[in-house]
Amino acid sequence: MGFDSKFYIAAEAEMNAIRLKNERTAATRHSEIRSKYPDIAALSDELGSTSAKLFMLISDRTGDISARLKELEHENLRIQRQIRASLIEHGYPENYLDPVYSCTECKDTGISNGRRCRCFMEKVKQAASDELNRTSPLTLCSFGEFNLTYYDDTVPTHLGVTARKIMEYNLSVCKKYADNFHLPYSSLLMRGKTGLGKTHLSLSIASEILKKGHSVIYGSAPDFFRRIEKEHFGNSTNDTNTLDMLIKTDLLVLDDVGAEFDSKYYISAMYNIINDRLNSSLPTIVNTNLDHDEIKNRYGERIYSRLATMEELVFAGNDVRIMKQQSVQ
Ligand SMILES: Nc1ncnc2c1ncn2[C@@H]1O[C@H](COP(=O)(O)OP(=O)(O)O)[C@@H](O)[C@H]1O
Ligand SMILES: [Mg+2]
Ligand SMILES: [Zn+2]
Repeated sequence: MGFDSKFYIAAEAEMNAIRLKNERTAATRHSEIRSKYPDIAALSDELGSTSAKLFMLISDRTGDISARLKELEHENLRIQRQIRASLIEHGYPENYLDPVYSCTECKDTGISNGRRCRCFMEKVKQAASDELNRTSPLTLCSFGEFNLTYYDDTVPTHLGVTARKIMEYNLSVCKKYADNFHLPYSSLLMRGKTGLGKTHLSLSIASEILKKGHSVIYGSAPDFFRRIEKEHFGNSTNDTNTLDMLIKTDLLVLDDVGAEFDSKYYISAMYNIINDRLNSSLPTIVNTNLDHDEIKNRYGERIYSRLATMEELVFAGNDVRIMKQQSVQ
């Protein structure tokens, strides 16, 4: 998948920083142990000298070295075992003096079996989604700030229960959704008028999922579709593939669906995103002010039938933004 080279450079820099940090940790451990435990210090000096002998033997190609090589290797392993035993005796894990790696697959080199390691590609992906999210308030909302008293608790809505009851249910579904998040996972469709908390709750989910270390992309449909169109028709300044990223991120929050300009191109981009993500069971949260008929009319049966498979949360009540503004006046 296409990523701008600047994201590879960012990932490379991050790998370097990780390597450096781990080398420092290992060095600190070595000097800590050396200064506290002379017996281990002596053993590790001995290990150093057998390693040097081994190295010299391998470089010296005269004569038959195999017997001597075996002997030195045994010696080396014996000392390593002694060091481990001694570490345990002093209350440390036996691998305390081993090299420290954040990724055991590539030993923090970023390359595993001659290919870019998974950890490296995660970093590239993260750098690219950070850029997409740069202008969005991803971590600004939380469940804790979601106040149910904004929703009326006296008059039943057309659904037969009060807005408060409906929103209590929505809040609990969203909390559970965030708590149980894993891949593959189900999707949500949040539907209702402006100002009822759709963006607030979807951002609250997004920030929890981000904390769990997943990649999350949040944005409004008008922004994303403009971006995708610009990239597709070649007058974009970078070669990031937004469509591809929206399809592949762990969680996508597609906000304000229906607020974008009505175009065939946008609808086909929307179909690609929704269909590809559903096919690979990647979760999407879709927010819209449209009702079912409006969705069907605007996007057609193919998109509608896919959105209809998502768990739907209907939002109820009065515009909270307006209530908040009135309360400060
Ligand atoms: N239940 C709530 N408690 C506190 N603030 C809320 C609540 N619902 C919405 N808001 C705030 O009101 C404003 C509008 O809500 P928003 O989530 O953008 O609505 P929507 O996306 O449904 O149009 C935002 O500033 C949001 O943080
Ligand atoms: Mg909104
Ligand atoms: Zn790795």
